[in-house]
Amino acid sequence: MTAPRKLFIKTYGCQMNVYDSERMAEALGASGYVTTERADDADMILLNTCHIREKAAEKVYSELGRLRPLKEANPDLKIGVAGCVAQAEGEEIMRRAPVVDLVVGPQTYHRLPELEAAARAGARPVDTEFPEEDKFEHLPRAPRATRGATAFLTVQEGCDKFCAFCVVPYTRGAEVSRPAERLLREARDLVDRGVREITLLGQNVNGYHGEGPDGRIWSLARLIEALAEIDGLWRIRYTTSHPNDMTDDLIAAHGAIDKLMPYLHLPVQSGSDRILKAMNRKHTAEAYLRLIERLRAARPDLALSGDFIVGFPGEDDADFEATLTLVRAVGYHSAFTFKYSARPGTPAAERPVLPDAILDERLYRLQALITRQQRAAQEAMIGREVGVLLEKPGRLPGQMVGKSDHLHAVHVTGEGLQPGMLIRARITASAPNSLAAVPL
Ligand code: 5AD
Ligand code: SF4
Repeated sequence: MTAPRKLFIKTYGCQMNVYDSERMAEALGASGYVTTERADDADMILLNTCHIREKAAEKVYSELGRLRPLKEANPDLKIGVAGCVAQAEGEEIMRRAPVVDLVVGPQTYHRLPELEAAARAGARPVDTEFPEEDKFEHLPRAPRATRGATAFLTVQEGCDKFCAFCVVPYTRGAEVSRPAERLLREARDLVDRGVREITLLGQNVNGYHGEGPDGRIWSLARLIEALAEIDGLWRIRYTTSHPNDMTDDLIAAHGAIDKLMPYLHLPVQSGSDRILKAMNRKHTAEAYLRLIERLRAARPDLALSGDFIVGFPGEDDADFEATLTLVRAVGYHSAFTFKYSARPGTPAAERPVLPDAILDERLYRLQALITRQQRAAQEAMIGREVGVLLEKPGRLPGQMVGKSDHLHAVHVTGEGLQPGMLIRARITASAPNSLAAVPL
């Protein structure tokens, strides 16, 4: 028997890419590949790329430059570019980077085995189609492997919202929801393999509207309700949501379904109505704040996180102050802050950009405020009893690392702790990015 070939995947960007990388590894598993953690040891290297913010493509080209010596040392090495830069650049990658053997967009990686075979035969295939079929259903089934305590499950892909700054509607295409039956099957399979917490993924996950086993269209809330019935599945999360798709049944689910964790990533991007309008967000700051109130009425201890863009074209001091005001009003557990970067092909890319110094200053001030809120939220946990799902051993003896219900990273020290255990613990201290706890 020949030794299996080794596959190294480098993943950039969002959690959906993490999920996609796992699926790509499975697809190539059927062609005899096993994954490796080392690029220099691989027979195939895949870069699963992200195009959401600036210089994404340039980063990919420089990474490809760094891989050239590996290819010179091992002429059998095949290099592929996958993900959203692959989708956006396509043939251009082949033209600019001779080391690349295949290019595959996010919607066609179920065809990787054929693309890989074609690449081995000396062709340089490029597949960036948006096919009709569900790629997940066409993935070759790899042998069942045990899994960690947590897993992602993509339920929805693409976005129809067309925020003026965002490439997602172009790179990932229109919103498509996977049928609920398949998702329930996949979730049961994950649970059989040891998964206890599933995070449902979608670029606009709360816009989920998949076909249900009853022939009706299911909402995300309905899907979560059905998932919550799976024995052995203890925790459910979902990300990323758009405020306008936060429906009544989903808000109610936060109060009614115990397995749905009290944490919500709900990006607002800006606190200024003028900028929200220019961003084509189709809601006001006030509407967002009212929505948060309703969510907190359903689930008082809900932890909120968000995304913010500073320096969107036209943003003046008053607009930025409005963002700070909104952040103060919400009190986020965590939030991601980005400097606006013009993405070719998006409507906002045509508009004049602000000086970089202004973007830097606003980013700094917003981050400082969010860091203060994050600290305060963490410190407020000290002394409290929380659920922690243990994921892996920590650096110190007797220590395990896991996540609290509110998605805080928690270091628990105690005896007999194992990955996959869901324990009650008391928070004893707060460090910059994690909490310490003792089991109860
Ligand atoms: N510039 C800066 N940030 C962006 N994001 C998306 N597109 C851009 C852009 N052009 C941010 C948004 C989004 C997150 C995933 O990335 O905040 O919610
Ligand atoms: Fe991009 Fe807006 Fe869609 Fe989110 S909702 S993926 S920011 S277009």
